[in-house]
Amino acid sequence: MNTVSVHASRSYEVLIGSGLLSSLGQHIRTMTKADRVCVVSDSNVWPLYGKTVTEALETAELSVHTFVFPAGEESKNGQTYLALLSFLTDCGLTRSDCIVALGGGVTGDLAGFAAATYLRGIPYIQAPTTLLAAVDSSVGGKTAIDLPGGKNLAGAFYQPILVLCDTDTLNTLPTEIFRDGCAEVIKYGILYDDALFAHLEHHGLAFDREPVITRCVELKRDVVAEDEFDRGARMKLNLGHTFGHGVEAASGYRVSHGKAVAIGMAMVARTFPGPDSLRIIHCLERFGLPVTTHHSAETLLQYMYSDKKRSGGTVSLIVPREIGRCDIVPTPVEELKSLIQAGL
Ligand code: NAD
Ligand code: GLY
Repeated sequence: MNTVSVHASRSYEVLIGSGLLSSLGQHIRTMTKADRVCVVSDSNVWPLYGKTVTEALETAELSVHTFVFPAGEESKNGQTYLALLSFLTDCGLTRSDCIVALGGGVTGDLAGFAAATYLRGIPYIQAPTTLLAAVDSSVGGKTAIDLPGGKNLAGAFYQPILVLCDTDTLNTLPTEIFRDGCAEVIKYGILYDDALFAHLEHHGLAFDREPVITRCVELKRDVVAEDEFDRGARMKLNLGHTFGHGVEAASGYRVSHGKAVAIGMAMVARTFPGPDSLRIIHCLERFGLPVTTHHSAETLLQYMYSDKKRSGGTVSLIVPREIGRCDIVPTPVEELKSLIQAGL
C-alpha cells in the first residue's frame, strides 16, 4: 500500500493499494465519532462492492445506510442531490457521522457536494472505483452537480477526510472506461513528469497500476497544495480540455470525456508544434485513444463558446512545450478559430 499526504484547507491521506475496501470501517472508527455511515454509490458499482463495504462497516459496529442512484452523468443533477439530502435527513445523520462515496467521479462529485452542504458540512470519504476518480476527481476537494445550463455549475471546494483507493476495483472496469481514465494519466505525464510519460509510452495499457496511480496522486497533491481554489496553477489540469470540450459537446456527448480530452491534447500538440508533439500523439494512439475529430473548426468553436462569450475575452490554453513542461497561454477568443484549425 502507498500513502500520499495531501495538505490543503484540510489535510488528509490518500491510501492506494489492493484490498483496502475491507479496512473502511476501521478507518472511520479511528478518524471520526460516527455511529451512522451513509454509503453513496451507483447502480453498477453497488452490486459489485456493496457487500464488501457493508461487511467492513458492520464489523466496525457502524450503522450502514445506502443511497444507490442510476449510474451515469445524467444522475449528477439537482434532483438526485435533493433526494440524497432528504435521505440523509431521514436516516438521522448528524454532523459527527460520515458519508462514503463509493464509485467513479459522478458518485464522488455528488456525494462530496452533499457532504459539503448537509448540515453545513459533514465528514466524507472518497472510495474511487474508476481510474479517472483514482487519479483525479477523488483528490483535491472539487465537488459539484450539473445544472440544466451546464456541467458542474453548482459545487463547493470541500476536502474529504480520507481517500481510500482500492486498486482491485479497477479489475471490473469496462476497458473503454479504463481507457478514458488513461487519457487523464497521460495528461499528468505531459504536464509534469517525463519519467511517468516514458513508462506509459513503453507499457501502454499494461502500465504498473499502483505506482502510476500513486505518482499521479502525488502530482495532483502538489497542484492542490499550490492552488487549492483553482486561481492559477490548477488550471494546467485543463490540458486538452478546452478543445476537448468542443469535441465532447459537438458529438452530443457520444464521445466520452476521456476520449475528447485525448483529441484535445492531440489538437493542442498540433497547434503548437514542439519537439515532443509527435510523442504525445503516438502515446495516445498506443492507448487506443482517438487523436482526430471530423468536426470543423467553426462547429467546435460554436460548441465551446456561446455567441455572447465569443468576443472580447481571453481563454487560458494549456500548451505543452516539452514532456513535463507546459505553459498557461492567455489567448484572445478571436484567435481561437485559427488555432483550432491548426490542430485539426
Ligand atoms: P462515472 O462515475 O460515471 O463512472 C463511469 C462508469 O463506470 C459508470 O457507469 C460507473 O457505474 C462505472 N463504474 C465505476 N466504477 C466501476 C467499477 N469498479 N467496475 C465497473 N464499473 C464501474 O464517471 P467517471 O469517468 O469516473 O467520472 C466522470 C465524472 O467525474 C464527471 O462528472 C466529471 O465532471 C467528474 N470529474 C470531477 C473532477 C473533480 O476534480 N471533482 C475531476 C474530473 C472529473
Ligand atoms: N480535475 C480538475 C481539478 O481537480 O482541478
